[in-house]
Amino acid sequence: MTLLDGKSLSAKLESDLNEQIATLVSQGITPGLAVILVGNDPASCAYVQMKAKACKRVGIYSVTHEMPSKITQDELLSVIEILNNDPNIDGILVQLPLPPHIQTTQVLEAINPKKDVDGFHPFNIGRLSIGIDTFVSATPLGVMNLLKSYNIDVRGKDVVIVGMSNIVGKPLASLMLNAGASVSCCHILTRDIRAYTKNADIVCVGVGKVGLITADMIKEDAIVIDIGINRLESGVLVGDVDFENVAPKTSFITPVPGGVGPMTIISLLQNTYKAAAFRLEQDKRRGQKV
Ligand code: GUN
Repeated sequence: MTLLDGKSLSAKLESDLNEQIATLVSQGITPGLAVILVGNDPASCAYVQMKAKACKRVGIYSVTHEMPSKITQDELLSVIEILNNDPNIDGILVQLPLPPHIQTTQVLEAINPKKDVDGFHPFNIGRLSIGIDTFVSATPLGVMNLLKSYNIDVRGKDVVIVGMSNIVGKPLASLMLNAGASVSCCHILTRDIRAYTKNADIVCVGVGKVGLITADMIKEDAIVIDIGINRLESGVLVGDVDFENVAPKTSFITPVPGGVGPMTIISLLQNTYKAAAFRLEQDKRRGQKV
C-alpha cells in the first residue's frame, strides 16, 4: 500500500508556482484574488484564512471582503460587479455556503466566468462537461493532479464516486469521464453503495460521514481517494473511510489529513495564476492591436 501524499506534492507544486508567479510579476502582472465571505461561520472563516495565507506564500495579492450575514442579494451582486470590473483582480471566490436568503446560483452566475477561479459558474461547468480547457473546481482538480503525480492512469478504469455535490462529486465525475474512466455515481438515494464500490478500481468518496467506506466494500488492490473531512469530538480530523482497516487492502490510498486537503488549496492558487496569465495574454494582444 502506498500513501498518496498530497502534503508533499502540494509543497512541491507551491514552490513551482512561486517561480511561475515571479516570472509573471517581472512582466508587470501580479495575480489578484478577491474572496467574499458572508457571515461568520467558523469553518468558512478558517478556510478563507487558509486561502489568504496560501496566496501570500506564493505571491498572489489577495483581498477578503467580509460581509454581514444580513447583506442583501443586491448588495452582494454589486460587490461582485465591482470586482468583475477591477483590472487588478484576476479571480473572484465567493465562499460557500451562503445564508439561506441569498440565491447561490444567481450569485455564482454573476461572476465573470474568466475570473471564476472556483470553477462554479455554469459556463465553466459546461466547458468542463464537454472536455475543453476551463477553470475546474479546486478539489476535483487536486484529486486528478494527485493521481497523475503517482502515474495512475484512469483510462479504462472502473471509477466509483460517492457523493454528488456540485463542487466535488459532479465535476470529478466529468474529469474522470474526460480522462477515459468508466464512472459510476453514488449519492444519497443509492440503495446499495457496496454493490458499486466492491468491483471498483478506484473509489472516491466525499460525503462527510465517518466510517462510510469499510474494508468489505473495497476490492483487493483498489485505489481509495478520501475527500471527506470530519472532526471527531476528540478534535481529531478523519475522512469518510475506515482508514485503519481499508488501507491494508488498497494499492494506493489518501490519508486524512495530508491527502486531498492540501491539493485543494494549491489548485485554487494554480487557477488564480491561470487567470492572471490569461490577463497577460490579453494585455499583449491589446498592445499588438494599438
Ligand atoms: N465551501 C466549501 N468548499 C468550497 C470551495 O472550494 N470554494 C468555495 N467558494 N466555497 C467552498
